[in-house]
Amino acid sequence: MTDSPAAPRPHLIAGNWKMHGTATALAEIEAMAAAAASLPPHVTVAVCPPATLIHRAAQVARGRLVIGAQDVHAEPCGAFTGCVSAEMLQDAGATLVIVGHSERRTDCHETDADVRAKAIAVQAAGMTAIVCIGETAAERDAGTALTVLNSQLDGSLPGSAERLVVAYEPVWAVGSGLTPTPEQITGLHAAIRTNLTARYGDAGERVAILYGGSVKPDNAAALLGADNVSGALVGGASLTAADFLAIARAA
Ligand code: PGA
Repeated sequence: MTDSPAAPRPHLIAGNWKMHGTATALAEIEAMAAAAASLPPHVTVAVCPPATLIHRAAQVARGRLVIGAQDVHAEPCGAFTGCVSAEMLQDAGATLVIVGHSERRTDCHETDADVRAKAIAVQAAGMTAIVCIGETAAERDAGTALTVLNSQLDGSLPGSAERLVVAYEPVWAVGSGLTPTPEQITGLHAAIRTNLTARYGDAGERVAILYGGSVKPDNAAALLGADNVSGALVGGASLTAADFLAIARAA
């Protein structure tokens, strides 16, 4: 008797719409939901639209397409003008939340401690936290990428590995058209895994590690096929169903 081939590892392909999309974009989410039904069973797709669209997006999402948010406030409620809590996002239909994206770390001066508090709030509301980390070009060139990533993990990760995903997004790859090589990603993801297992034990083995930064239909197969890659966080190419589904099919 021969062993049956190992099942492919689960992949999460998450789209970060950033500040793009009004009601007309719901047609793309409807098209993604329809197409997601024919994806291989190990692939889940998620769309994180602007907060204003989460509720309506969740009405059209179904099956293996889920809806997430791009940010959250760490506190459950209070005098925080303009902010949205984890419970509110969950109530609107989100099942996962991106925290610590490099644009928020840079533009909104979010610290590792802020990111950790947000991740804890997301988990406490029953959703999955996607914690983003990544080095800048200067840090890469100085040879300190690994030190930076470990320091971000040490400062940003919550105490529990339940409902936790890590996204490795080199800052220099986000929106630039540049990517690391699959070999470089494999090496850095292995180092991230070492950090996760040291922190969480066996549970750290089960935390998905996504790659993000200029993932496109034409490079998705190479990037997603790299060892230790459990999916992708996709910006620009997640805005249209055709490109986003082409990436998901490459998983
Ligand atoms: P990009 O963005 O795919 O447009 O590079 C990725 C991200 O910001 O998550």
